[in-house]
Amino acid sequence: MIKLDSAEYAKRRKALMEKMSPNSIAILASAPVTVRNRDVEHPFRQDSDFYYLSGFDEEHSVLVLIPGREHGEYVMFCQEKIKEQEIWTGRRVGPEAAPEVLGCDDAFPVTDIDDILPGLIEGCDRIYANLGTSPEFDRQLMQWVNHIRAQVRSGATPPHEFSALDHLLHEQRVIKSDAEVAVMRHAAEISAEAHTRAMQTVRPGMREYQLEAEIMQIFMAAGSRWPAYPSIVGSGDNGCILHYTRNDDVINDGELVLIDAGCELDYYASDITRTFPSNGRFSEPQRALYQLTLDAQYAAIEATKPGNHWNQPHEAAVRVLTTGLVELGLLSGEVDELIESLAYRQFYMHKTGHWLGMDVHDVGEYRVEGEWRTLAPGMVLTIEPGIYVAPDDESVDEKWRGIGIRIEDDVVVTQDGCDVLTKDVVKEIADIEALMSA
Ligand code: GLY
Ligand code: MN
Ligand code: MN
Repeated sequence: MIKLDSAEYAKRRKALMEKMSPNSIAILASAPVTVRNRDVEHPFRQDSDFYYLSGFDEEHSVLVLIPGREHGEYVMFCQEKIKEQEIWTGRRVGPEAAPEVLGCDDAFPVTDIDDILPGLIEGCDRIYANLGTSPEFDRQLMQWVNHIRAQVRSGATPPHEFSALDHLLHEQRVIKSDAEVAVMRHAAEISAEAHTRAMQTVRPGMREYQLEAEIMQIFMAAGSRWPAYPSIVGSGDNGCILHYTRNDDVINDGELVLIDAGCELDYYASDITRTFPSNGRFSEPQRALYQLTLDAQYAAIEATKPGNHWNQPHEAAVRVLTTGLVELGLLSGEVDELIESLAYRQFYMHKTGHWLGMDVHDVGEYRVEGEWRTLAPGMVLTIEPGIYVAPDDESVDEKWRGIGIRIEDDVVVTQDGCDVLTKDVVKEIADIEALMSA
């Protein structure tokens, strides 16, 4: 808990409170506990907004910010420290220690929230909350507000405006601080090492999940508790399934293996894809499509710099891919027309990247006032073009069918371009073949 400097969390809360309107309150609940099956729960992972503001990873907690409140602006409701319960479910901070551990001004048992929170809301004009994400939380919030409404004749003043908290908070999360970039760089290095390991250990005949085990081993040995998302290990045709996670096929000789895997480190994600031949040597058709994907990725990286807009890297990748697909005979026609008509989507059906941060598909707008937003230093994104030729695509020569390739790196926008955080894992054909034959 609280891995970044506690001053970083205080700075985030202050920045948010400065943007909140006068006489307002922000209320944010911890992530829900979800059941996997019968008595088994999914591992608990704190809500990213909640963790971003608190560094607190306990379930059944509610964070409250009340800018300008005389008796303290930062209030936490959390589980009580009860010995009999801690024996079953683990250690808790508890409201007594919370001010010291979390830096909050006040803390109360979450079981008392219905008695205390309406009193904190009362008199505020506006409530900021992430409405619509949890029906349970929405219901509770209305219950607290209705409690105040029921007392207007005794002089209580209920809030009359509800605002989306994420609108304020997510803009803040888009620009990463130096401390955040440092954690993300470390996460990227661990993931790069894991992909290198996968290239070194793959053998035809293995199951895809056995290669996944090599990835997981490196993540955990290097200090990452979880992957940032379920790893994709797709061999052969499976590389053409964008969200393939079954990972239970046999990896055959002569196939490509597409691995999309990234560790989560201290609540920050990394997200790398590499595609390589199971036997260490690209076939001619694999080589041609791989080099084209790589050229598209370089073009997109080149277009990732301050002042360019969000979609420019995608447009650059699409142009290179479409031109190459025509040259190789997978598409036919004028490049401009094929781009205009979106014909390339037969082989490239996703976008070239997404924001990356505490969530793998991180928060933040992609358009502002109807226009693609301008890239600026501190933004972190992925660059991940691909080519996927469906196994049953009879419009192309047989030799291309069933080839799925994606190459994905994580970059941070700098003053004059971008810095590739995931550069430690090779992607040039010659470098992959050399590594795999070593
Ligand atoms: N791993 C999810 C993605 O690449 O977007
Ligand atoms: Mn990605
Ligand atoms: Mn990915």
